[in-house]
Amino acid sequence: MLATEPTTDGLIPISMATLSPRSLLGIDIYLRANAHSPSVLFCRANEYPDFERLLPLVSQGVNKLFIDAADRGKYQQYLRENWTDLLADESSPVANRAAIMSEVIRDVLNEEFSLGNTDSVVAVSQRLGNVTCDLLSDQSIIAQQLCNVLHHDYATFTHCTNVSMYCVLLGRALGYCKSDLKELAVGGLLHDLGKLQIDERILTKPGKLDDFEFREIMKHPGIGFALLVERDDLSFGQLMMTYQHHERLDGSGYPVGCLKDEIHPWAKLCAIVDVYEALTSHRPYRNPMSPKTALAVLDKGYGTEFDKEMLQCWRKLINSR
Ligand SMILES: [Fe+2]
Repeated sequence: MLATEPTTDGLIPISMATLSPRSLLGIDIYLRANAHSPSVLFCRANEYPDFERLLPLVSQGVNKLFIDAADRGKYQQYLRENWTDLLADESSPVANRAAIMSEVIRDVLNEEFSLGNTDSVVAVSQRLGNVTCDLLSDQSIIAQQLCNVLHHDYATFTHCTNVSMYCVLLGRALGYCKSDLKELAVGGLLHDLGKLQIDERILTKPGKLDDFEFREIMKHPGIGFALLVERDDLSFGQLMMTYQHHERLDGSGYPVGCLKDEIHPWAKLCAIVDVYEALTSHRPYRNPMSPKTALAVLDKGYGTEFDKEMLQCWRKLINSR
């Protein structure tokens, strides 16, 4: 799958935060001091990670290690066996636990999305959304810290993971209550469900979409809504996050071209973090934008495409240190 597509040396990134000095990963782990450095073996499969060696790198902002793409299954198994223990360690900084949560959600969503059973996707999204909300709504975490520990590839399951977390941060800053934040977290995980029925070649096309391809992409909010609308375990707001997250205040969005108050507030919120997430992630045709550039792009739609108060709040969150 795309998110874990191997680099040229056959390695895939993992979050450093998912390692524990007490748990044996059972996989060779590699280190890369920066994006241009060659990979070096950091820890053999039968060794415990030496955290003393990692500390200088952490202080330089390095937060990813690498494993062989062939070991992905073993790593996923390790995560499934250890994630509750890793998350329960309250001495671990919240950013580290958010990194673990991100790995777990990506892993589970990747599998669930590929199986394509909506009941099962919704069930795991409810469970993971609740844990995400508990982690992010009660703790002080700076948005930039969170952005730094997330993956930024263009796979749908990574995008949904990040959007869900951003929804909680923005909702919290806007003063939403805990139960609304839980719904937002789940809604964020599900907002792009309809993309699972769009041709992967269109979703990952390394260039401009033609008219036909764009019309195909524009179907995904409606497809997702149709998959979820009959359920009694999702709220109207969550359904609207799926159906309306590409609508814009001035009517320039899709699938309907709704205006201002016709768009549910949660869909307006989701729209902002959805675009921000997409801009700051890798795309087949470009590198990620910096937070500053992504905010400048969003600002072009301030009050016309995007809700003023929500965008102001998001800008403040991203700029806070
Ligand atoms: Fe979307």
